Amino acid sequence: MTPLLEAQNLTVHFEGVVALNGFSLTVNDGEILGIIGPNGSGKTTFFNTISGFVKPDKGHIFYNQREITHVSPHVIAELGIARTFQNLELFPYMTVLQNVMVGNHSRVTTKDALKNICSRDERQRQEFQALEVLDFLGISGFEHSRPAGLPFGIQKLVELARALVMQPELLLLDEPAAGLNEQETMEMGRIIKDIRDDLIITVLVVEHDMSLVMSISDRVVVLSSGETLTEGTPEEVKINRDVVEVFLGSTY
Ligand SMILES: Nc1ncnc2c1ncn2[C@@H]1O[C@H](COP(=O)(O)OP(=O)(O)OP(=O)(O)O)[C@@H](O)[C@H]1O
Ligand SMILES: [Mg+2]
Repeated sequence: MTPLLEAQNLTVHFEGVVALNGFSLTVNDGEILGIIGPNGSGKTTFFNTISGFVKPDKGHIFYNQREITHVSPHVIAELGIARTFQNLELFPYMTVLQNVMVGNHSRVTTKDALKNICSRDERQRQEFQALEVLDFLGISGFEHSRPAGLPFGIQKLVELARALVMQPELLLLDEPAAGLNEQETMEMGRIIKDIRDDLIITVLVVEHDMSLVMSISDRVVVLSSGETLTEGTPEEVKINRDVVEVFLGSTY
């Protein structure tokens, strides 16, 4: 299989804390790859490094064979990598539709954005596309609501919609089920599978909900103190002695 993304020996320090310690990972085109690990093991830092918000002290990231290690976040987004955040980052006073359409502007270049800013047709096209994504996620009808007044589960889908309108090739989901009830979590699992199967998007998912990760992932990587503890199929990881030890007594 062709590697879509290759992270090689990433090391990230934050004032004495080693968040990633020579971490390497290959993401194959078309897979759902789960990343699990205890609190503080470096999962979000890894996402921040891929999406350009954090620059590694050491190591390299290649996306479609192009090195993106020192590329800025908006260029990485233009290249086709979209993400959601562990803490919802919606604009509370904008409507759902406006929040989702922010995603369109993350993917276009500044030059295109200036060219399109006055184009009514372009705006209509983007609106149509945003509405299509809301429909895909089963939240049509909320487009004129403000996120602050909506149930948390819907807000999480709005953030996901904003990432999807970018039409990414690689989607990074940081704890998509955090704060969701059991039924919403199952629904999120189904949606993530549909994103890969119907929209043909490769998905990297960080999650604490073990049953969700194990049911949707083709492969699971276990991070511990910024390093790979093990990786394998969900079945292999579930019975790994080190994994059981690391997670025993934790939130898993
Ligand atoms: N911006 C930052 N400044 C200082 N330290 C940071 C920063 N971001 C992360 N860290 C530290 O780096 C380590 C890894 O954090 P990270 O957020 O990547 O963990 P995580 O695996 O996502 O944890 P969680 O499951 O709680 O979300 C932690 O010790 C954290 O305190
Ligand atoms: Mg995190």
